[in-house]
Amino acid sequence: MNTEALSDAGSYKFGKFEKNAEELARLKLQATVAIDLEREVWKNSGLKPGMNVLDVACGPGFTACELAKTVEHGTVTGVDINEELIFVAHQAKTAEKVQNVSFQAGNLYDLNLPENSFDFVYARFVFQHLEKPDVALSNIRKVLKPGGILCVLDIDDNWTSFSPESAAFVSFIRKSGAGQKRKGGNRLIGSQLFEKLNKAGFKNVSTKIHPITTETLGVRMFLGVAVLFRLEFLTKLQKLIFMPQLLKIKKASESPDAWGSLGIFVTTGTKD
Ligand SMILES: C[S@@+](CC[C@H](N)C(=O)[O-])C[C@H]1O[C@@H](n2cnc3c(N)ncnc32)[C@H](O)[C@@H]1O
Repeated sequence: MNTEALSDAGSYKFGKFEKNAEELARLKLQATVAIDLEREVWKNSGLKPGMNVLDVACGPGFTACELAKTVEHGTVTGVDINEELIFVAHQAKTAEKVQNVSFQAGNLYDLNLPENSFDFVYARFVFQHLEKPDVALSNIRKVLKPGGILCVLDIDDNWTSFSPESAAFVSFIRKSGAGQKRKGGNRLIGSQLFEKLNKAGFKNVSTKIHPITTETLGVRMFLGVAVLFRLEFLTKLQKLIFMPQLLKIKKASESPDAWGSLGIFVTTGTKD
């Protein structure tokens, strides 16, 4: 797959970011920082040892390696549209010494995988970037075995907050959300997944919200991993205009009173 195919990557075109190396480091942190909570999510969603798992839009593969350890004698296939990230994923496999994971380039809009072949499909932080989530859901449903489970983990900006300097923070969240929307994304996807999975024909659909606060992540990590990378979605002019507010938020984050939260939305559904 060449970089042309990145046109289907919606609002996430790794390689075209201003700071790609920093973004990769952020993805790694984001994959590890709440891994205990994520393992709990997998268990509650029905993930079991022995399952054949597909990690769609697996990015650099850190999470797929964790999934592989969890399914033990099962297998994990990681697929991503971005070949650069698939290369990193192969390195992660070697570094983590996991045998039961494989990676390949692939597009959620044209999944070149056998139908009815996976017990569990995981989609982590990708639906917020997709221009055509309904096409992706229909393709995922095809590759699931009857009785198989889809688990989508994503975000919803209506559940993101920070204080002090709430007004500056809310303005940043709104502007970067609008910027992501211009690039094809949707930062309000979390609360829409319940309807989307139902409409795509999934059964037993359920959405749960897992709050993450600065008390668990720490203020610096919260702002770095979950918030400030969104500068990427502002235009150059907006970045300049927004700089004073950004400085206010950074200063506020040094206050002992600083507190923030976000909601991780987990939607599951099964195939008949
Ligand atoms: C924010 S990253 C998340 C990566 C990984 N799931 C994680 O949580 O670390 C979004 C990923 O979606 C991938 N992606 C975007 N559109 C895609 C598509 N149409 N098909 C497959 N992957 C896609 C991007 O290349 C990127 O790796």
